[in-house]
This record gives sequence, structure tokens and C-alpha cells, in this order.
Amino acid sequence: MIDLLIKNAALGDGRTNMSIVVNGGRITDVLPGFISDAHQTIDANGFLVSPPFVDAHFHMDATLSYGLPRVNQSGTLLEGIALWGELKPHLTFDALVDRALAYCDWAVAKGLLAIRSHVDICDERLLAVEALLEVKRRVKPYLDLQLVAFPQDGIGRWKDSKGNPTAIELLRSSLNKGVDVVGGIPHFERTMNEGAASVTLLCEEAAKRGLRVDMHCDETDDPMSRHIETLAYETQRLGLQGRVNGSHLTSMHSMDNYYVSKLIPLIREAGVSAVANPLLNITIQGRHDTYPKRRGMTRVPELMAAGVDVAFGHDCVMDPWYSLGSGDMLEVAHMGLHVAQMTGQAAMRACFDAVTKTPAKILGLEGYGIERGCNADFVLVQARDPIEAIRTRATRLKVIRRGKVIAETAPNTANLNLPGRPNSADFLHTR
Ligand code: FE2
Repeated sequence: MIDLLIKNAALGDGRTNMSIVVNGGRITDVLPGFISDAHQTIDANGFLVSPPFVDAHFHMDATLSYGLPRVNQSGTLLEGIALWGELKPHLTFDALVDRALAYCDWAVAKGLLAIRSHVDICDERLLAVEALLEVKRRVKPYLDLQLVAFPQDGIGRWKDSKGNPTAIELLRSSLNKGVDVVGGIPHFERTMNEGAASVTLLCEEAAKRGLRVDMHCDETDDPMSRHIETLAYETQRLGLQGRVNGSHLTSMHSMDNYYVSKLIPLIREAGVSAVANPLLNITIQGRHDTYPKRRGMTRVPELMAAGVDVAFGHDCVMDPWYSLGSGDMLEVAHMGLHVAQMTGQAAMRACFDAVTKTPAKILGLEGYGIERGCNADFVLVQARDPIEAIRTRATRLKVIRRGKVIAETAPNTANLNLPGRPNSADFLHTR
């Protein structure tokens, strides 16, 4: 007999009344109509069954540290980096692990089962690296955590307590310990030339080790910050196509249109993907503007139209840079949709893909999707399609990992007591 049957499911591609058959933790069939009895049957009641949410850009070493040692008064990126510098000497292994595990609980409850987290390696103790490697091991049964060696204070700019620039050695040590991806922050290096040199150095390190690259790139309103150009160039030179991601790319918002008309095809040609972080960038960018005030998010629809893979990341939750958030990728997609003005039907669906299958591709996740042979990982949401899911930031009714229910939330229904009106409202559009 079948292990698990999900019946009467809607899928993201528009199919309805579908059955998903699960055996041994894998999907063994996806078929229309009702199939047969199973050990466990879940009636989706016509709601959407999606593959899990994926966050391609997060900082799990800083999460849930809001207010430690103080709050960010200006709300700017640079005060956030300075604040993190104040907090770093006071971090402990146990506190880092506890906060990260607590965040992963929230993530699972929201159907977020794969996260790429940057981890700061500018610390002689590599404390955050050790802590997040421990967290990665502990959450493995229920959440895929991919770690990026991230030189927060600059690979050339950071110096140890004796004044030695050893960030590259710490980055190499992190990779040797099991960190998965090479990070960088070229716009934070001292000069444009040093930023470009850091991109070359880090891409060469990744190529030598056969690793992926994910850099914080051009997270600035300076239209002359063009490290994405070097990142695309090095990707091609080193044969890293399909393995490199540019995170943020906010300077593209402010760049001259003529230059962008050259740049986007270069990004596409190099097979470099992009991650925009709408919650963060709408609050952090444009801070030096009066009015008109720039939004600062990268050119999401234009990149997508050119065939570049673009995902939305959460970036931060309750940390020195961002005091809000809850691990809800539908909130991220909702903000991305608004900031990018992606209100057409296809555009809204693309925003849903930007927090599901596109980041799964960027992370290189295997067995992701709702097809025969994929892992039996999915989320049943209280919505009939991806657009309704974004509109209502739909309740994650059930979260399933390898065929087992690992989180459940009661439906979002308000009881009403109004004359001549229904006795409840569930915020779903009646068709
Ligand atoms: Fe970030």
C-alpha cells in the first residue's frame, strides 16, 4: 500500500485535482484524480501544494540578535556593519547555535526548508563558522543549510588583532572545515581596484576547489560600483558558468541605462544568477537621497526578461540590519512584487518562483520539485494558486519533509457576528 497520498491538490502550473503518491520519502507518481487508499491520506481540499520555500540569501549567524548590544539607530547598512563589529567579540558558540536553531524552527513552520546562509569569517576564532557547521549538522534531517564563507569586513580590508590581513587564510580554513560556497564583498574593499582584485582572488579560489560563488556585490547606491561586471568576466574566464551568484546588485538600480544595456547580456552570457533582497534593500538603499528617493532594488524584471535566474532572499531577520521578519518567504515575495512593480499575472507567478524553484536551482538542490523521483518535500498552503498565496501570505497548513508532516498551522479563518452576513471570512477569492 502507498505510504502517503496527497489528494485533491492544486499545483503551481495550474493543474487541479491532482494526487501525489509518496513511497519511501520520495514522490513515486503525480497523477490526476484519486488513486487508491494509502497508509496516510491528506486531503488538500483544492489548495496549492508547492515544493518548499527556499531562501538563497540569509545571515544565520546574526539572526535574532536584535538589540545586542544596542539597536541600529540610523537603520543604515554601514551602522549595521559597525554594530555587528561591536557584537562579534561578545558572541558565544552556544548563543549562536541557540539563535540559529530557533530561527530554523520558524523557517520550518513557514515551509522554508532550504537556506543559503552567509557566515562571517572575519574572526580569528571562526566562532560563527564552527557554530553554523554544528547547526547545519543538527538541522540536516529537516532543513538543508548551505553555508557561504563571507568576509564581512573585506577580504583585503580586514586585519587581525596583530594588524595582519589574514581574511583569505580564514576563508580558506572555513572552506577546509566544510563551508560550501565562496563569498565576498567587493564594494566594501578600500578601492574599486581592490574590490575587483578580491573578485578575481575569490573566484580563483572557488575554481581551484570546484565550489560555487555567492558574493555580496555592489550593495550600494553608487552607480559606478560595477563589480558585477568583473564577477561575470571571471565566471567566464574560469569556466564557472551556472555556479556563480551576485547578491543584492543594488547599484544596477542607479546605473546609466546605456551601460545596463551592455551589462545584462554579459551577466546572462556568463550564466551568473542574481538574488535581490527586497525587504532589506527597500529599507537600506536610497538613505542618502532626499526626494525623489530611490528604491534601490536591482532590476529584477529586466534581468528575468533577459533570461537571468533571479531569486528573492530574506537576508536578515531581527539582526543589526533589520529588526523585522519571521522566516516567511511569502512576505519576501510580496515585498519583491511591490518594489519591482511586478503586478501582471505572469510576473506575480515569477515572484513565487523567485522564492521556490529559482533559488533551488541557484543552490543546486537535488531532488527538488513535485515530479516523480523528487524528494517528498512540500508545503500545503491555504490558497488555490501562487498568486493567492502571495496576496494573503497564505497559512502553511502542513509542511512535509521526506513524506512526514513536520509542521502544521490552523487555517486562517475569522469568526464573524454580523447581521445577514456569513459567520466566517477566510480571505480567499470566491470564483
Ligand atoms: Fe546579505
